Amino acid sequence: MTEKAILILGDRRHELPVLTGTEGERALDISKLREQTGLIAYDPSLGNTALCRSEITFTDGERGILRYRGIPIEQFADKPDFVEAAWLLIFGRLPRREELAKFSGLMTANELLHEGVRHQFQHVPPDAPPMALLSATLSNLACYHQEFFSLGDEESLEEAATRLISKVRTIAAFSHRRSLGMPFIYPDPKLRYCANFLHMMFSIPYRQYHISQEVEDALNLIFILHADHELNCSTSTVRIVGSAGANLFASCAAGVCALWGSLHGGANVEVMEMLERISRGGLSPEECIRAAKDKTNPFRLHGFGHRVYRRYDPRAKILKAACERVFAGMERKDPLLDIARKLEELALADPYFVDRNLYPNVDFYSGILLRAIGIPTNMFTVCFAIGRLPGWIAHWKEQHDDPNTKIQRPRQIYTGPNELTYVPMEKR
Ligand code: CMC
Repeated sequence: MTEKAILILGDRRHELPVLTGTEGERALDISKLREQTGLIAYDPSLGNTALCRSEITFTDGERGILRYRGIPIEQFADKPDFVEAAWLLIFGRLPRREELAKFSGLMTANELLHEGVRHQFQHVPPDAPPMALLSATLSNLACYHQEFFSLGDEESLEEAATRLISKVRTIAAFSHRRSLGMPFIYPDPKLRYCANFLHMMFSIPYRQYHISQEVEDALNLIFILHADHELNCSTSTVRIVGSAGANLFASCAAGVCALWGSLHGGANVEVMEMLERISRGGLSPEECIRAAKDKTNPFRLHGFGHRVYRRYDPRAKILKAACERVFAGMERKDPLLDIARKLEELALADPYFVDRNLYPNVDFYSGILLRAIGIPTNMFTVCFAIGRLPGWIAHWKEQHDDPNTKIQRPRQIYTGPNELTYVPMEKR
């Protein structure tokens, strides 16, 4: 029997069904609230609102759990394979060997950009923000793939998804090369996903960039850890845009725009700038912590805090360990890692952060690892986007396949003036 909650309004009682997820999360179903009571729900930052039912990713902020299709994130860390994780997220189970080979093959077959898209890079200023280029170019891909505007079956979804996941790294690498005024390096079909991205970023004509297994693994790990995080800001954006019937390319381009924000994916850049400022001597770790606590100062301790996690973000834990491993393997140090450790130590001993459950999030250590790989700071959020793309696609698909999907259209509480009379210009 469905559990019900009773809402008493004046002298009337209303029953609201309680829904339960597979991990026991309970939600009040208010979809008929207005119809039954004339009231709407008010939840300005959607902190208590489930936008959908989803089978893709489970997070438990109190226990610090993150699972993709049921598999704990920690289990991807040993032999990280981003392409396999992408398939899992999109299609709902681990791929068989031939399924993964087909998926990878489609990506290799679609790794080049149409010349029209490539020329687009020549017509932007060299210092164009790579996230602006990324969202514009993903949107522009729709001009060249109109056959995927309507995705009737899994086959065509896979075709469209592999084009996006493959081309996004070509677009990212080309925007980096363009910003340096360097020739574009075309993808090499012999290389695996992450190695190919590094090749396009760092090879130069006639000199192939050497990619160690350790660095390739580190990049796979970074992409996997960013691959999905249920209804975060950019993924909700993709769902909202998709709910209007917008195609996959347009929906993912909107996701990139949301991710760009400094409270979301842009935080990894802010973290790096904060650590660099401390390293240059412009700010001490103690001053940084003081500024973050000062309510008259808009500064926040970047890479700390999370809407869902009330404990250490499990992704940050894995990334911190990966940083230590990669630097040990490289036999070199990065002073920024020491500064990050120091900031973490100060914050976790400070009642301000402890009382508010503010712990390192995914962005706190990811930048240090990206830097160790050689990725410049202005490409950090782009790397987040490359990683997040399978998650956006998985959510877009789940919503698209759900026959009960309707356009998402929230309500508001109007607080403007009551009816006024228009005043002609000469009488104002
Ligand atoms: N530094 C200082 N104070 C903080 C921080 C921080 N990083 N994060 C939260 N707080 C304080 C905040 O001022 C508030 O204090 P009070 O209760 O006194 O008003 C309290 O903690 C609750 O914060 P909130 O802003 O209401 O929490 P939220 O759930 O709306 O925001 C957040 C979550 C991630 C936007 C926020 O913690 C933040 O701005 N963090 C820094 C930016 C960041 O690292 N973003 C990346 C998030 S993880 C990856 C991603 O989503 O892309």
